[in-house]
Amino acid sequence: MKEQPVGFLDSGLGGLSVVKEVKKLLPRENIEYFADNQRQPYGEKNQSELTKFTFQIISFLLKKKIKICVIACNTATAASLKKVREYFSIPIIGVIQPAVQDAIKKTLNKKIGIIATEFTTKNGAYLREIKKVAPEIKVFSNFCPKFVSIVEAGKFTAPETYEVAREYLKPLKDAQIDTLILGCTHYSFLKRVISDIMGSGVILIDPSISTSLTLKEVLIQKGISKEEGESKENYYTTGLTDKVRKTAKIILNSDNIAIQRVKLEELG
Ligand code: DGL
Repeated sequence: MKEQPVGFLDSGLGGLSVVKEVKKLLPRENIEYFADNQRQPYGEKNQSELTKFTFQIISFLLKKKIKICVIACNTATAASLKKVREYFSIPIIGVIQPAVQDAIKKTLNKKIGIIATEFTTKNGAYLREIKKVAPEIKVFSNFCPKFVSIVEAGKFTAPETYEVAREYLKPLKDAQIDTLILGCTHYSFLKRVISDIMGSGVILIDPSISTSLTLKEVLIQKGISKEEGESKENYYTTGLTDKVRKTAKIILNSDNIAIQRVKLEELG
């Protein structure tokens, strides 16, 4: 079982922020990563579409013999974590809970900001999780629709990225939050821009870090952590374009990333 891979899914390349952290923390683990680029953005989809996509992708990854699955997507986590956990027998980890715990530990002025997709923001998953643990905390949120395509295009620090980010972050700056949750895995790649705009007084909470720590804990606790040998990685996408290839190479810092195209019909 230890040799079996860890599965990851996202609407695109955002979940690679989680993969990058996992590779640092658990360098021997085999990885199967699924990016649903053809149906992106997930942030504009509804609950039943997102639940269907998550079921389809986990079923696909199970054929690759994954031992555990990380939903490296806040939107899919918000829409379907509870349902997929009830249905599948492998352990499934989402990105929201680990980030909330981290943010609550870090805030001093009890004002937390959340930036996420439209679905995650309107669904209120972060707000509910925070209020469950710390009802006294004030929560401010905003959705940032253009960030996903900016990241997919690899424009991590472009002038237009700063321009768009200034607009999205203004209400959170005005609210004087001291902690900001990057509630979409794509936003992890915009940390530099976000931190330049928010200033050094605001701590950024990147779910990819807390999620990889949670993954490690679960693997150890279940006795299924792979601690020896080489790591193998496979990447799949429903929408293989030159842009996806190019940005994946930049993110993973490798020229030899083979990404396989999966047709939507194959997902059943
Ligand atoms: N990366 C995803 C998330 O964490 C979804 C981005 C999108 O496709 O809208 O929510």
